[in-house]
Amino acid sequence: MRTFTTFLALAAGACAQSSAYTDDVTGITFQGYTDSTTGFKYGMAVPTTPATDFIGQMIVPSNGTGYGGVSLTGEMVGSLLIVAWPNSDSVMASLFETSGYTSPQVYSNSSISLNPIANGTFVNSTHMAYTFLCTGCITGNSLSFSASTSSIVIGWAMSAKTVTNPTSASAATFVYHEQGYGDFGLTLSAAESASYPTWAGMATAASNTTTSSNSTCSSTSSNTTATISNSTYDYIVAGAGPAGIIVAERLAETGKSVLLLEQGAESTYATGGRSTVSWNDTITQYDVPAMDYYLTSAPDTSEYCTDTANMAGCILGGGTMVNAMMFVRPQAADFDDKWPTGWKWSDVSASAEKLYERNPGTTLSSMDDQRYDQQVFSTLQKFFGSAMGFTQVDAIESPNAKTAVYSYPPWDAQNGLRAGPVKSYLPLANALFNFKLSLYTKMIRAIRSNSTVTGVEVESVSTGARQIINLNAGGSVILAGGAMASPRLLYNSGIGPTDQITTVQNGCQGVTLPDESEWINLPVGQNLRDHPIFTLKFNATSITDTMLATEFTSPNQTDIDLFAQGSGPLAQSGQRFNFWTSLNSTNGTRFFQGTCSSQTDGIVNIKLYLTHGLTSTGVLGITSNGATEFTTDPWMNTDADRIAVTTMIDSIFSAARNSSILTPADSTATGASIVAANSYVQGDHFVGTTIMGETNDGNSVVDTNTKIWGMDNLFVVDASIHPDLPTGNTQAIVMVVAEHAAAKIVALGSSNSTGTTTTTGAVAPYANSTSTVGSAVPSGTVAVAGDDDDDDCY
Ligand SMILES: Cc1cc2nc3c(=O)[nH]c(=O)nc-3n(C[C@H](O)[C@H](O)[C@H](O)COP(=O)(O)OP(=O)(O)OC[C@H]3O[C@@H](n4cnc5c(N)ncnc54)[C@H](O)[C@@H]3O)c2cc1C
Ligand SMILES: *[C@@H]1O[C@H](CO)[C@@H](O)[C@H](O)[C@H]1NC(C)=O
Ligand SMILES: *[C@@H]1O[C@H](CO)[C@@H](O)[C@H](O)[C@H]1NC(C)=O
Ligand SMILES: *[C@@H]1O[C@H](CO)[C@@H](O)[C@H](O)[C@H]1NC(C)=O
Ligand SMILES: *[C@@H]1O[C@H](CO)[C@@H](O)[C@H](O)[C@H]1NC(C)=O
Ligand SMILES: *[C@@H]1O[C@H](CO)[C@@H](O)[C@H](O)[C@H]1NC(C)=O
Ligand SMILES: *[C@@H]1O[C@H](CO)[C@@H](O)[C@H](O)[C@H]1NC(C)=O
Ligand SMILES: *[C@@H]1O[C@H](CO)[C@@H](O)[C@H](O)[C@H]1NC(C)=O
Ligand SMILES: *[C@@H]1O[C@H](CO)[C@@H](O)[C@H](O)[C@H]1NC(C)=O
Ligand SMILES: *[C@@H]1O[C@H](CO)[C@@H](O)[C@H](O)[C@H]1NC(C)=O
Ligand SMILES: *[C@@H]1O[C@H](CO)[C@@H](O)[C@H](O)[C@H]1NC(C)=O
Ligand SMILES: *[C@@H]1O[C@H](CO)[C@@H](O)[C@H](O)[C@H]1NC(C)=O
Ligand SMILES: *[C@@H]1O[C@H](CO)[C@@H](O)[C@H](O)[C@H]1NC(C)=O
Repeated sequence: MRTFTTFLALAAGACAQSSAYTDDVTGITFQGYTDSTTGFKYGMAVPTTPATDFIGQMIVPSNGTGYGGVSLTGEMVGSLLIVAWPNSDSVMASLFETSGYTSPQVYSNSSISLNPIANGTFVNSTHMAYTFLCTGCITGNSLSFSASTSSIVIGWAMSAKTVTNPTSASAATFVYHEQGYGDFGLTLSAAESASYPTWAGMATAASNTTTSSNSTCSSTSSNTTATISNSTYDYIVAGAGPAGIIVAERLAETGKSVLLLEQGAESTYATGGRSTVSWNDTITQYDVPAMDYYLTSAPDTSEYCTDTANMAGCILGGGTMVNAMMFVRPQAADFDDKWPTGWKWSDVSASAEKLYERNPGTTLSSMDDQRYDQQVFSTLQKFFGSAMGFTQVDAIESPNAKTAVYSYPPWDAQNGLRAGPVKSYLPLANALFNFKLSLYTKMIRAIRSNSTVTGVEVESVSTGARQIINLNAGGSVILAGGAMASPRLLYNSGIGPTDQITTVQNGCQGVTLPDESEWINLPVGQNLRDHPIFTLKFNATSITDTMLATEFTSPNQTDIDLFAQGSGPLAQSGQRFNFWTSLNSTNGTRFFQGTCSSQTDGIVNIKLYLTHGLTSTGVLGITSNGATEFTTDPWMNTDADRIAVTTMIDSIFSAARNSSILTPADSTATGASIVAANSYVQGDHFVGTTIMGETNDGNSVVDTNTKIWGMDNLFVVDASIHPDLPTGNTQAIVMVVAEHAAAKIVALGSSNSTGTTTTTGAVAPYANSTSTVGSAVPSGTVAVAGDDDDDDCY
């Protein structure tokens, strides 16, 4: 259930405030808030001395489908979530908690429960009402607010789309909250009432709710009997994100047979994707650069993974179809600081050139060489140029200039469309007879004969049918599922910390593990890193004519016609200005990126990323259902990172206060207050869950050929292997590393060549090669927030 992700962004402080109302039906007086756009209403009442319980009321405009939900901290991750939905004429509700942006588990704790108040709980022809006593729900920890907090933040979300399994409080799943979401502040003392005990007495023990079930599998693979495919391959690559596509294409160039597996669906129009925009039926939402800021609220949100700890794209192209198109060529230091021998900039620069030849990126995406919607650029050019003393560079031409510089945003765009390996590499692979792409096909595990992989087990995403696909003798498997997913494939193959493999063994995925004596203990999941993003808002009187969201999502004919020529504002991604700088201290050098835009006249948002040099790390594990989860969050958990962000925010605020160009919108905010409030969102730039190292000393997972330590022919090539975070967004460096890794694997392959270059099964040309083992897209549920997705209230 990726319903509440935007809540993450809200900790900084809510915009809307609650007020009192008395509910006609129950007579309860609530402190509440009604969203003026959707009509979603939430109220809360507490005793005169708040302790552990409260009464809540959710009134959701509904025609009988959809759901409403609230987060008791305003955040999605780690918070207690209360979700209610109509099931025919009754109301269902459940408590959830999630450690990531997906697959929240029903929250199970016998001291916390939902008890409906019958008169305030009903479904009528226009609404669903759910009024309840929440016992034990004021926890004062990460799950919910504390009874002594004077001002709390409640997040809310609603959808009108069908809930899957609506009859089960524990198995129901929810799609993205396309109807609306937001947050509001509530003063707890204003919700106090001496009548509370009477009102609470109206509650009855839940009959249609559940608060338990962590032991049961929400979906069990009922039939794990696998058939055996009659085709075999020299290379099987799992995951068609940027890394998987690049490595598969380079391997196919050698003439050996390559099978590229992707669990997701077609994406761009050219690949068969048909999630078209309303104004052009031959262009998908993925093709249009300007749509990248609005994908989480687009009609089709099935492209987001539902089984990963945080946001990722599960579609042909992976993250390159859902990301915000920033294409930041890595600087030399991104490699030189922490990558092992053979992977320094002098080693990889030739691979980078091979990438840039096919996929260069651009700071000018509109084919008419014009730039549109430029008030943010001109305003910030003045601010950073004068008040901050930064110099203008072209980020594509000068990747190594990363201190005190600003640039037009560098984008992965070509011909006015979203670019990336789906456009720049996949067609080349499809032209080769020895390459095959299999969509809707999820790899479950590698099949090992001790240190040798003999094949993979896959599952059809639509039917659940399992199949074993074998390698030719001398063949190899390359995992490219991304930093949030490749660790699962290793755990499922008996590789990683023993506790994670044991979770798989006792879990619900129906995975056959190798014998315990063959498990390989490597630090899979252990060195997770990401860029935290702090959103700084500034008032800027010079922003008088900024383009609004609707001008991109429902463009006028002028802009539609310009786009048909590869030009105009729709051919631009959402960012308007970027800057980079660094801070040096005794704790080392830390870099920052700023990504800036405006969605409202008078306001500029600076998304400040702490990047290369940060020292916080987290840990990625697996749940019994097979979803990955953060067992330790990767952000802001070292003092040095906190000090660096504090210093950088203060220096920008101070320059703004001394300028007449920008004014911090919140005049009381300081670096320290923002850092103390943990008001960051995830960067979606996850790396490090299977890092590369020079020796098998327990600190790394793959060797410098990207091969798993202790295995003969199992590789990882994706963001997981990066032992360090780059200075900018990750896709460009992920592509550079994939090019370099492909060269290493090709070199190994030619020395161990078996000469087997064809498969026993027929390999079809492209028209047929997009074979769909399954036929349906995973039913979906989505998330949000993250990179450059402007989800704050403004
Ligand atoms: C919302 C968002 C915004 C971002 N914005 C930017 C940006 O503006 N600029 C930038 O540079 N970077 C951005 N990034 C990051 C960038 O997209 C990623 O770093 C990059 O896509 C990682 O590439 P990858 O190949 O390692 O994995 P991914 O892109 O995650 O691709 C992995 C692929 O493998 C598939 N897969 C996984 N497991 C299996 C399996 N078992 N079987 C079959 N297939 C499987 C997935 O479906 C997916 O298609 C963003 C990421 C997100 C999520
Ligand atoms: C309710 O409205 C949604 C969104 O408009 C629609 O998809 C759904 O079919 C409607 N349900 C009913 C029961 O009318
Ligand atoms: C619920 O409403 C009915 C009808 O108005 C009323 O008779 C009953 O007393 C109410 N129950 C409670 C607990 O208030
Ligand atoms: C349904 O209930 C809501 C909430 O009490 C109320 O506002 C609305 O008027 C009701 N609709 C009908 C048709 O009775
Ligand atoms: C909800 O509870 C009521 C009262 O116990 C019961 O009549 C109804 O069948 C239940 N609905 C579901 C879907 O369980
Ligand atoms: C739920 O999970 C916890 C932690 O894994 C475990 O201790 C507990 O026994 C589980 N509860 C049930 C009912 O299985
Ligand atoms: C291989 O499998 C396909 C589909 O399962 C089948 O149509 C084909 O006849 C098989 N080929 C051989 C040689 O068995
Ligand atoms: C499995 O492989 C490892 C590493 O190559 C080797 O040490 C071990 O003896 C092998 N075990 C068996 C049962 O072959
Ligand atoms: C299980 O799946 C296999 C392979 O897809 C299929 O042949 C078999 O009939 C299925 N068995 C059941 C009981 O569904
Ligand atoms: C269409 O929208 C653009 C904003 O992108 C605006 O500049 C232009 O004036 C609009 N054209 C018409 C005809 O409304
Ligand atoms: C749709 O977009 C394509 C590609 O940009 C363009 O060739 C075509 O003319 C557009 N169609 C319309 C109706 O604008
Ligand atoms: C930090 O030090 C590096 C060299 O180590 C230098 O290039 C950079 O300009 C310094 N940054 C600042 C802000 O002084
Ligand atoms: C910034 O603008 C907003 C909206 O116009 C206003 O409420 C706020 O007070 C302003 N902040 C400052 C510091 O002027």
